[in-house]
Amino acid sequence: MASDNSGMNSAVSSLDRIRREAEAELLSVCDEATAESFRIKYLGKKGLLRELLKNVKDIPEEQRREYGAAANQLRADIEQKFDAAPWGKIEQKTAESFDPGMPGFPFPHGSIHPLIHIRNQIRDIFLSMGFTMSYGPEIESDYYNFEALNTPKHHPARDMQDTFYISESVLLRTQTSPVQIRVMEKQKPPIRSIMPGRVYRNEEISARSYCLFHQIEGLYVDEGVSFADLKGTLLAFARRFFDEKTKIKIRPSFFPFTEPSVEIDVECFLCKGVGCSICKRSGWLEILGAGMVHPNVFKSVGVDSEKYTGFAFGMGLERIALLKYGIDDIRLFYENDARFLNQF
Ligand code: DAH
Repeated sequence: MASDNSGMNSAVSSLDRIRREAEAELLSVCDEATAESFRIKYLGKKGLLRELLKNVKDIPEEQRREYGAAANQLRADIEQKFDAAPWGKIEQKTAESFDPGMPGFPFPHGSIHPLIHIRNQIRDIFLSMGFTMSYGPEIESDYYNFEALNTPKHHPARDMQDTFYISESVLLRTQTSPVQIRVMEKQKPPIRSIMPGRVYRNEEISARSYCLFHQIEGLYVDEGVSFADLKGTLLAFARRFFDEKTKIKIRPSFFPFTEPSVEIDVECFLCKGVGCSICKRSGWLEILGAGMVHPNVFKSVGVDSEKYTGFAFGMGLERIALLKYGIDDIRLFYENDARFLNQF
């Protein structure tokens, strides 16, 4: 009889112990992971509260009912406390509302800015021809932006570039050409480099012009570089960028840092030279300025112009992007309007 009672006593005391432990542990449950391990430990199929019912066999028959009721009560109490806690509700709710058959959320994803896209295409063509990439500062000195490029003070060519001056000798660069000077100061020929970047001009903002835009400059200096190299390189570029049968037209022009200077037109890629609204019925699109590096430019960087010759070119990315994508307002490039940007 004594042993029967001791079986009941120890079973009841283990119920009490588990109640205390479970209640204490419930206090440290703070998220889904700790809630789940609590649930497995106490309430799961192999959890402690189920195990307790197995102790029934150690208990004298006449007390089994009483014990069973106490064990079930304990389980109900703990379950109720567990469910009442906020994380319990969250878990239940997410479990109920999760439908594995629902389509996923459409995550918004970014797209490459059209100007970056154009820049990458141009960059890859020149890299494949053996050009390197160089960069220079956007806040530039008057010396690099003008003076060293054979454009001294009061030179009329300065008027065309409505410059933002920061002080008398410091400005926002109006072109990427100063990077040519920086590259030649650092590196001896042979040089083959392209120089992309932002430039600034104090122009009235309209559909056609903006206070900043992007250029890619090119420079090739070595012994024996001729005008034929300029023509061949830029024709190869135009054919890879626009169309393999694209024709180019070279017109005389003027830039202080090149002699001779030219402007290069490509056959309109839309109408193939017939004449359309994009090319203003001319059949040609003006895309870049170029020329043979002026001896005065070589002089300012200490390159021997008797030994070396070179060609340079510069093109505006916005203009090429406007043409290529048929965009009619340059301001769209800078407004960060997702409806515009997501089209690319
Ligand atoms: N820097 C000129 C501009 O902004 C473009 C240019 C013309 C660059 C001729 C060159 C060049 O390197 O040779 O209008």
